[in-house]
Amino acid sequence: MATLLVFHLLGLYPGAFLSHSSTAILNLSQKPVPSSSQLLVLSPFTPKYTIHNSFLNVSTTVTTKGFDARSVKQTIPKGARAYVANVTVNGVPLASRCHLDFYDVFKTGGDVVIEVTADKNAVDNCGASLPESISTGGFAVAR
Ligand SMILES: *[C@@H]1O[C@H](CO)[C@@H](O)[C@H](O)[C@H]1NC(C)=O
Ligand SMILES: *[C@@H]1O[C@H](CO)[C@@H](O)[C@H](O)[C@H]1NC(C)=O
Repeated sequence: MATLLVFHLLGLYPGAFLSHSSTAILNLSQKPVPSSSQLLVLSPFTPKYTIHNSFLNVSTTVTTKGFDARSVKQTIPKGARAYVANVTVNGVPLASRCHLDFYDVFKTGGDVVIEVTADKNAVDNCGASLPESISTGGFAVAR
């Protein structure tokens, strides 16, 4: 649960309950439950952070463009930039504002920019790609 809270504060969330990355890091064997290397994108609670993977010697910096401190209030005030508008990885916009893949980001390192907006209605969908789930056809084998 503590791990999930940290992911939530960072604006990312493992796509399946037991993400492949955490099982790999913890050196657990493959579980007979679906797992995914996808991370769900949420509005981050911090303007910028860097995660260094000392095993692979790569760093990933996540920047919240337009970060609005009011977005972390329990009740989000009107006009607060609390909603993810789009996500770029190393300058390339992702098709979806809802998910990215551990293997494209934290494994190789790089820059992730999560741009936020106050216009909730304009971004009330994932864009061109939905995260993997049972209702979108199940989970691909983790890479
Ligand atoms: C890790 O990467 C940095 C920056 O690319 C490099 O300067 C350093 O030598 C690397 N360290 C190891 C242990 O490979
Ligand atoms: C990202 O969203 C912001 C706010 O809606 C917009 O101004 C910007 O043009 C978008 N950028 C991309 C790459 O879609």
